Amino acid sequence: MKDLALSKVYQLLEPGPVVLLTTARKGRANVMAMSWQTMVEFTPPLVACVVSNADYSFAALRATKQCVIAIPSLELAPKVVEIGNCSGLDTDKFAKFHLTPRPAECVVAPLVVECFANLECKVVDTRLVNKYNLFILEVVKAWIDPAQKNPKTIHHHGFGRFAVDGEMIQLKSKMP
Ligand SMILES: Cc1cc2nc3c(=O)[nH]c(=O)nc-3n(C[C@H](O)[C@H](O)[C@H](O)COP(=O)(O)O)c2cc1C
Repeated sequence: MKDLALSKVYQLLEPGPVVLLTTARKGRANVMAMSWQTMVEFTPPLVACVVSNADYSFAALRATKQCVIAIPSLELAPKVVEIGNCSGLDTDKFAKFHLTPRPAECVVAPLVVECFANLECKVVDTRLVNKYNLFILEVVKAWIDPAQKNPKTIHHHGFGRFAVDGEMIQLKSKMP
């Protein structure tokens, strides 16, 4: 064993697939890339996510308390990274990256048609926002695209490195 820089720990504990987070405020939709999210409850599904207060999305999420988590498959990976490399402050990312917004049912933020799953979310707890930029979201409506068969998710390991969802194995786990 040898020392690992503490700044690299997050690369070992990547929490889930890279997703897109959409918001809408004053009639303007935006989308960012996100990978710091984790489940915290089964039912209702609660998700904790960190949205930096340096992101344009932060203010929209805090003000509207609504967003969509859209889950892209491997084919969208290059686009997802570019979406995470620019800001809605000066870019209409839906137009620039040819993403198709579709009105959601329960929130003002749009779904992303190209993603294989879309989760409409409402912010239900903001107590850790000021301290950690951490929002607790409740998924209030979920959509899946049956046309996208066996989508592969991408997982962020830092500095442009991604793992692609791999082989599936079945074991006798008691965890639902
Ligand atoms: C793979 C990847 C994962 C990212 N994960 C997060 C994240 O979990 N939280 C966050 O605040 N920013 C994350 N970012 C950075 C934002 O996507 C980036 O700052 C984006 O430009 C913010 O867009 P906005 O200013 O339009 O809100 C990630 C970027 C990439 C490329």
